[in-house]
Amino acid sequence: MTKIGSKLLLTYFLLIICIFFITSLSFHFISQRYLINGTEQELQKEAKVISQLLSKGALSSSSVQQKLVNRKVLAISERLTSSKMIIWTGNQDIIYSDLKEVNLAQIEEQSKGPGRKFVTKTVEISAKNGRIKGYVTLFARIEDIKEINQLMRNSQLISLIISAIIALFLGVFFEKSLTKPIRLLSAHMKNYTVRGTNKEISIHTKDEIGELADSFNALSRKMKRYDEDQKVFFQNASHELKTPLMAIQGNAEGILDGVVTGEDAKHSLNVIIAESQRLKKIVESVTYLAKLESIEESFSFAEESLDRVIREAVESVGAIAEQRGIEILVDNHVTGKVLMDCEKMKRAFINLIGNAIRYAESKIVVKSFVTGGKEIIIEITDDGAGFAAGEELKVFQRFYSGDAGGSGIGLAITKAIIEGHNGTITAFNGQPKGAVFQICIG
Ligand SMILES: Nc1ncnc2c1ncn2[C@@H]1O[C@H](COP(=O)(O)OP(=O)(O)O)[C@@H](O)[C@H]1O
Ligand SMILES: [Mg+2]
Repeated sequence: MTKIGSKLLLTYFLLIICIFFITSLSFHFISQRYLINGTEQELQKEAKVISQLLSKGALSSSSVQQKLVNRKVLAISERLTSSKMIIWTGNQDIIYSDLKEVNLAQIEEQSKGPGRKFVTKTVEISAKNGRIKGYVTLFARIEDIKEINQLMRNSQLISLIISAIIALFLGVFFEKSLTKPIRLLSAHMKNYTVRGTNKEISIHTKDEIGELADSFNALSRKMKRYDEDQKVFFQNASHELKTPLMAIQGNAEGILDGVVTGEDAKHSLNVIIAESQRLKKIVESVTYLAKLESIEESFSFAEESLDRVIREAVESVGAIAEQRGIEILVDNHVTGKVLMDCEKMKRAFINLIGNAIRYAESKIVVKSFVTGGKEIIIEITDDGAGFAAGEELKVFQRFYSGDAGGSGIGLAITKAIIEGHNGTITAFNGQPKGAVFQICIG
């Protein structure tokens, strides 16, 4: 049995025992009082009937016996305890008694106080003219009442034991059905490997355990995707690093072997320097990206003017844009300050606008506004060729670059920066043409 299962069963039983204890205790007191009260009422009723029966004629031993032959048939049948009867006159003469020896004073004495032994009821027997002829006293033993109470308690105990046994079976059954999916899930998790061909676990319990299984499936999907990304990254990285390294090696060997000389050697050396710089840039970018993705503290947030950050980014690429005859339009509607890491945000904008300059025909628009839901939207739109079908989904991958592209790290860095601000970035084709990069920070 699992630990959760035994804890559940233990709780279940403690609960049953508590309920049993409390109910039997309260039942004991309530039922005893109820029985004594009931007996008192019954005795009173019965004594009245008898007193009426004896109200006619003289009150003598023989007449009483004659009239009370059928006493048992009187309205006393529903009572559980048996009663005894004494009929006596005002001057304590006993006319009739169910007991052999009677001590009226003693019975009376023992009918009082908390430790009393009897429940008694005395009713006058009056003649028609109102004269009191005598008294009828009925009494029942408390012991008898207690016995009945005990009997009732015993039957309660038996029914409780039976229900406890049924509850035990039900409890064990529920424990099994509750912990089975947990055991399944735990076995699945133990055997799980990111690279393996594990199927997803399916638990359809529609409760928290089902939710847990769904969450685990989602997590394992994420891990697989991450693993896939990692693989692609290493493949692309090695490819991306190999190209400049091969160029460096080829040119260096050409010079060393004496194949390349004079002006050509100078050219080769320039190629070596350029490719080394490219390599350095790639390594720097990758290191920067790794830092962005792994260390949260690499961001330092402050309230900044979005307008200023955008304008600084535009300014820093302004010269290139001018060279290419491309106009950059800033259309800002965000007036308040925004919590951000302004250096990183500026870098993200420079990446996006820098790309746009490469692809735009004549114009780039940087538009920003706040939505009704208080989200900040920044859109960078150009009037270039836009994306080939499906390309807009790949552009954020590390080392993805199109035909006229560079190393393909820029947009991956941009995405990491935006996500570091709890934002999202998406790319799509604009109308009628061109590319749109939309940033949403909320
Ligand atoms: N404004 C744009 N219009 C069309 N394609 C773009 C645009 N911006 C980026 N891309 C595509 O996304 C690719 C990846 O961009 P990026 O990550 O910045 O790398 P790089 O600029 O080094 O190529 C680019 O090579 C290009 O194919
Ligand atoms: Mg770029």
